[in-house]
Amino acid sequence: MSVILGIDIGGSGIKGAPVDTRTGQLVGERRRIPTPEGAAPEDVKKVVAELVTHFGLPGAVGVTFPGIVQRGHTLSAANVHPDWVGLDADALFSEATGHDVHLINDADAAGLAEARFGAGRGVQGTVMVLTFGTGIGSALIHDGVLIPNTELGHLWLRDKHAESWASDRARELDDLNWKQWSKRVSSYLQHLELLFSPDLFIIGGGVSKKAEKWQEHLKVGRGRVVPATLLNEAGIIGAAMMAAHDATPAGETTTSPEPARPTPPRKTPARKTPARKKA
Ligand code: BGC
Repeated sequence: MSVILGIDIGGSGIKGAPVDTRTGQLVGERRRIPTPEGAAPEDVKKVVAELVTHFGLPGAVGVTFPGIVQRGHTLSAANVHPDWVGLDADALFSEATGHDVHLINDADAAGLAEARFGAGRGVQGTVMVLTFGTGIGSALIHDGVLIPNTELGHLWLRDKHAESWASDRARELDDLNWKQWSKRVSSYLQHLELLFSPDLFIIGGGVSKKAEKWQEHLKVGRGRVVPATLLNEAGIIGAAMMAAHDATPAGETTTSPEPARPTPPRKTPARKTPARKKA
């Protein structure tokens, strides 16, 4: 079965469409339902079930989630309802819809889709996809293989989570112009480049539609930076790809997952290096 329903759970809307996972094309009209106030699991479940019924496609369904997803459990909730933490969301949605539902982190879904069918198509080596919106999502893909749940929006930078300093929401809250925001994003990308040396950075999320505002201002050392090309369809496409392959992402085991715990910044006192013994 190559036509699979992909559903993207976002902060303001939950969107679904049938996707031909061999081509990455949407093969039917997209349907969007506003995200219920508070985005609690029970309310989101009803919307997902409504979309599944609306499309009436047989087979597995792929669904994105804006937090850590491991073995079908949602393990963090930075910008969504706290009841998601520790939930067996694959089971919740599968039971509600009668279909085999597979969840995937939203940025991982966008990353899979961009790397295969979008701005990273044909690129060998390491591709890092970053989505800039309310938070910052990240996907790390090497030669087409995704390392899931990298959560690089939560990297500490300037004593904060990178996403509270360089997301699109931070741009709005701090009233930055595009050049000022790009300066922050450039520092962030340069740090990521030092850690991961991607051959290509793909900038996704809402800002990818306004590349002319930031592209010339983004500076990295070695890699290239390009805007995402699948725009707001990337999550839907990647979710469907994930469900189609029924893949177990790299690094997963079969033990039961623990919710992720936030790691507050620590002011670690500088350690004294023990004096070397003379030979
Ligand atoms: C979440 C990520 C998510 C990103 C974009 C972050 O706050 O921790 O899991 O991918 O926002 O939605």
